[in-house]
Amino acid sequence: MKILITGAFGQLGTALTEALINKYSNNSVVATDLHIRDTFDCETLELDATNLEALDEVVRTHQITQIYHLAAVLSAKGELEPLKTWDLNNSTFFNVLEAARLNDVRKVFFPSSIAVFGADARNQITSNDFPLNPTTVYGISKVAGEQWANYYNIKYGMDVRCLRYPGLISYQSFPGGGTTDYAVDIFHKAIKGEDFECYLRKDTQLPMLYMDDAIDATIRLMDAPKKAITRVGYNIQGMSFSPEMIAEEIRKNIPKLTVVYNPDNRQKIAESWPVALDDTPARMDWGWEPEYDLKRMTEEMLYRLDQKKRTNAFMHA
Ligand code: SER
Repeated sequence: MKILITGAFGQLGTALTEALINKYSNNSVVATDLHIRDTFDCETLELDATNLEALDEVVRTHQITQIYHLAAVLSAKGELEPLKTWDLNNSTFFNVLEAARLNDVRKVFFPSSIAVFGADARNQITSNDFPLNPTTVYGISKVAGEQWANYYNIKYGMDVRCLRYPGLISYQSFPGGGTTDYAVDIFHKAIKGEDFECYLRKDTQLPMLYMDDAIDATIRLMDAPKKAITRVGYNIQGMSFSPEMIAEEIRKNIPKLTVVYNPDNRQKIAESWPVALDDTPARMDWGWEPEYDLKRMTEEMLYRLDQKKRTNAFMHA
């Protein structure tokens, strides 16, 4: 087992790289990103995934057997430069698929998203097979990614698997450029005792997932026997809440949290996504079962961020 991760210093990458090192070993993981921002207890390389030659060389020389391709531009940032985003999200995944095919890497993980759905999915618990009508360039690139994954599976007998993540909530690192980022930012402001300015309306519900559950889902999906896999992309649901609901939950611990609502262009993106997903196939096929609801996730986030704050204060004292 030798795993290559792209986008290892992103929000998902930071937590997933640690989890894979713990599950396998530090010799089994090669973490890569465009820029090295921190350290992992495994080989860590600067790698531009838009460069097929460079990617191919890393896969070949490290005798990689699995790739987790996490590098991408997210929804809100993607709308600022649609063509560049399409180009980056797609060229990097093509390069990963090609590097995998050329080096006989069978198993590849591609993070898909709730953004594969469109506004027609908003007012229902969206089933796995609901029509995919994305309205953002990020969503279009995720739908295309799922389709290309399917193509490589059929044409080349590869085993590319995709999870449709909801908004991810974690204490380890910040998300960047997404529409669901507010649900992480609000915790940092609350812990610092600052007011929070929210770019979504207070009643806009979206599906969200705590990072520990996201990691568990990813590892379960990739560990599942091939015969259990019935589709290329799986919905997973953790919890659904609005800014008002999460603020209320945080106030149970930090009563003085003040939130000002000032919706911007991200409101439109949020309204084009489902409120909640039906994840029955993930539950049936590989035993998906989330552990965190809004209450437990909020307690855990506040506890972890408070610990981080104390450690930092201690280190800088
Ligand atoms: N968290 C992502 C975003 O907001 C959705 O997959 O763009």
